[in-house]
Formats: sequence, structure tokens, C-alpha cells
Amino acid sequence: MRRSRSTINSTTSKIFYNILGEEMISYKGKKTRLRPIHKNDIEKSLIWKNDPEIRENVQGYRFPVTERMEEIWYESALNGQSRTKVIFSIESLKDNMFVGFIELNQIDWISRRCSFGITIGEKEYQNIGIGKDSIILLFNYAFEYLNIRKICLEVAAYNTKAINLYKKIGFIEEGILKEHLYLNNKYHDIILMRLFGTEFRDANQTLTKL
Ligand SMILES: CC(C)(COP(=O)(O)OP(=O)(O)OC[C@H]1O[C@@H](n2cnc3c(N)ncnc32)[C@H](O)[C@@H]1OP(=O)(O)O)[C@@H](O)C(=O)NCCC(=O)NCCS
Repeated sequence: MRRSRSTINSTTSKIFYNILGEEMISYKGKKTRLRPIHKNDIEKSLIWKNDPEIRENVQGYRFPVTERMEEIWYESALNGQSRTKVIFSIESLKDNMFVGFIELNQIDWISRRCSFGITIGEKEYQNIGIGKDSIILLFNYAFEYLNIRKICLEVAAYNTKAINLYKKIGFIEEGILKEHLYLNNKYHDIILMRLFGTEFRDANQTLTKL
């Protein structure tokens, strides 16, 4: 079987200790480190989820998000972890700054598929390759370690930055949900995209050279 050149292995995964001294596994790429989420992360995620620009791109947060809602989100994320979802916090390798979240959710272990989401919440860390690097890391983990076969996502048609990035990673458009999202007095299309492990490995041969 053909394997990805950048499969997560002992050189990219390592145990480190967070500020509370807890043992954590992390996966290191060229620009980012993916580490388990921590309760302290909700301080920043609360700000990001209430930021209008981020809310418009990440569908799901339509009402104001409160600190209590974030605590519940954190608890439910941990409960779902290992069954139907896995969430990592994204850190910039350059300065160890916590800059966003990335996740696989709705994991179906029988059909070996899942959905995917990403938020680079710190805006000064957007557009510098952190999103791309984090996705490559997470997808190596998904396809090679978790044995996922197909990753799906939904993206608003106006989110051209995300769509460009997803196409670069190898995602293919599978369909359109017409006028599916109401935002700012208009209905917007939602694009459905998919990526099979085989497609990712093909695209990844180019990506690792970039
Ligand atoms: C969308 C998002 C994940 C992209 O991550 P990022 O770290 O900002 O993007 P990167 O720097 O890794 O850019 C990767 C690619 O995106 C595309 N891209 C980046 N900035 C772009 C821009 N302003 N316009 C169009 N395409 C752009 C390019 O194809 C780029 O590849 P290149 O650097 O090889 O040219 C991130 O900006 C984000 O979290 N945005 C807010 C939340 C969101 O939209 N989440 C996705 C919901 S589906």
C-alpha cells in the first residue's frame, strides 16, 4: 500500500507538558503544533466565537456565546473525544502562541468518514500558512493513524480563502446546497466538499514540496 511521505510518526509526535504540568501529546509540522485542548483555551475561543468576521465564516454560532456556553462546549468536546470527534488546539511554532482550533467530528467508524472544521482565531496569524500546515498534520493523523477513508466539509460560497485552501489540499466539490444560509439580508450557497485518503496522498506529494 502506498503511504504518505509525511505520515505522523515518532519524529512528529511527542509528549510535552502544558502550563499545569499535565502530560500531553502533540504533533509538530513546519509552522504549527497540534496539541490537546485545554480548559484555559476557552478564554480565547469565547472572543473568537463572538467576533462577527469569524462567525460569518464558521457557520454555527448565530447567538451570542457566553462563558458558561464555552464551558459546556469544552466538557462536551471532551466527552465526545475518542468516540465521534477529536479536537486539537493549534499553536504557532515560532512563538508557541495558541491561535486556533482544528477538529474532526461526526466520525463514523463503520463508513470510515468524518466532517472537518478549522478556525484560526488570531487574525494576525491568518494567511501565513498556519491553516495549511495544521490541515496537513491533522489529515495525516486522520488517514494514516485513525484509518479514516473520507473527510467531508461544508463551506459558505463567499469564503473564498477557505475554498482556495481546501482545493489546494485536494478537496473536490461534491455538491451545492442552494441558498442554504441566511446572512446579512441575503441567502448564500453552501458548498459540499470531500477528500478521500487517496486524493490527499496524491495532492500531498506536491504539498510537501511547497
Ligand atoms: C480559512 C482559514 C482556515 C485559512 O487558514 P490560513 O492560515 O489563514 O491560510 P493559509 O495561510 O494556510 O493559506 C493557505 C491558502 O489559502 C489561500 N488564501 C490565503 N489567503 C487568501 C486570501 N486572502 N484570499 C484568497 N485565498 C487565500 C491560498 O490558496 C493559500 O495558499 P498559498 O499560501 O499557498 O497561496 C483561516 O483564515 C480561518 O480560520 N479563517 C476564519 C474561519 C474560517 O473561515 N474557517 C473555515 C470555515 S469552513
